[in-house]
Amino acid sequence: MFSLKVLTAVAAAFAAVSALPTEIETPVGSGCVITNIDQVSSVTSSCTNIVVSSLTVPAGKTLKLQLKTGTTLTFKGKTVFEATQWQGDLMEISGDKITVTGESGHVLDGQGAKYWDGKGDKGVKKPKFIRIKATGGSVFKGLHVLNCPKQCVSLNSCDHVTLDNWTVDVSAGDKNNLGHNTDGFDISSSTNLIISNSVVKNQDDCVAINKAQHVTISNLKCSGGHGLSLSVGMSKTSVSDNTVTDVAFKDCTVTNSDNGIHIKTHSDGGAGVIKNVSYKNIHLSGIRKYGVNIEQDYENGKPTGTPKNNIPITGLTISGVTGTMTGSNSKAVYILCASGGCSGWTWGVSITGSHKDNYCKNQPSNVKC
Ligand SMILES: *[C@@H]1O[C@H](CO)[C@@H](O)[C@H](O)[C@H]1NC(C)=O
Ligand SMILES: *[C@@H]1O[C@H](CO)[C@@H](O)[C@H](O)[C@H]1NC(C)=O
Repeated sequence: MFSLKVLTAVAAAFAAVSALPTEIETPVGSGCVITNIDQVSSVTSSCTNIVVSSLTVPAGKTLKLQLKTGTTLTFKGKTVFEATQWQGDLMEISGDKITVTGESGHVLDGQGAKYWDGKGDKGVKKPKFIRIKATGGSVFKGLHVLNCPKQCVSLNSCDHVTLDNWTVDVSAGDKNNLGHNTDGFDISSSTNLIISNSVVKNQDDCVAINKAQHVTISNLKCSGGHGLSLSVGMSKTSVSDNTVTDVAFKDCTVTNSDNGIHIKTHSDGGAGVIKNVSYKNIHLSGIRKYGVNIEQDYENGKPTGTPKNNIPITGLTISGVTGTMTGSNSKAVYILCASGGCSGWTWGVSITGSHKDNYCKNQPSNVKC
């Protein structure tokens, strides 16, 4: 944009430096651009301002971006992950106090259609797409994720991390029901997270939390999937692995999905707890199965109809949850608690248009069913 002559002149004019457009700071030409996977380790170990530019990641390789503390990384153009049947992940980003962004028009393309067989975790081997392990106030913003083979974004061992203004679009997987288990954001073993102002179009949970503390999810627009979920109790032995506390979902919409809100605990796991979780101002439309589904009866990944009290659900707030259902299988509220398994809830649900009657068992006495 600027000629060298102009740049030199501007740099010399000391007072004008602060007025320089930020493009000049991007490291194009400075050796901190990754255009080939072979450059990743040298660039990430020497640079703190990195551009990943129109990169094709070879099949069967993880784009592993282990960033130095304080690094800014920007995706530019198309980052395409070539396909082969393997476990993945396709990409892993880790670091402390890092900032990861995408330039307008960029995309991270997982080429899901090359794997989709309608069977998700089963069927042909498929890689998970993006794993994030970050800390220290790291920010991931404005990323555009396209066509995840299966689970899209896994947050693992994160602390003080914000994801803002993401688009996760797996809507192409709706065709012939081929996309499956394409969770938007999976959260495990993490604390102090914010996910905000983002869009998820997929075929499974929009957000699924397994183990976390202090998480705020706000202004999400979810469609096509299974809603805003907690799935807790998969560990046989570790109480802390089976614990979700202090989580707030607010100001979200869930449309054309199986569920609006789904909380399930695994009765074949060990002890644990779900405590102080809130869903506030959640608007539903076109929900096919359950508006709000809370059940303590999962075994081998399926509901059994027999709830257990190994993961009590206390201090749950479901308020300002409104909207509409669609189709002959629709039920606004389904609650299956074990005796003594659910207590201290705040309840404000108003969902219309369901075909079947609500069902509730062992719910706290203030919960209208
Ligand atoms: C969100 O991210 C996109 C890039 O994916 C960017 O073009 C847009 O300006 C961002 N919006 C906001 C409000 O930051
Ligand atoms: C409940 O969780 C919310 C959201 O993380 C948090 O702001 C609030 O302080 C928690 N309340 C208690 C009593 O811990």
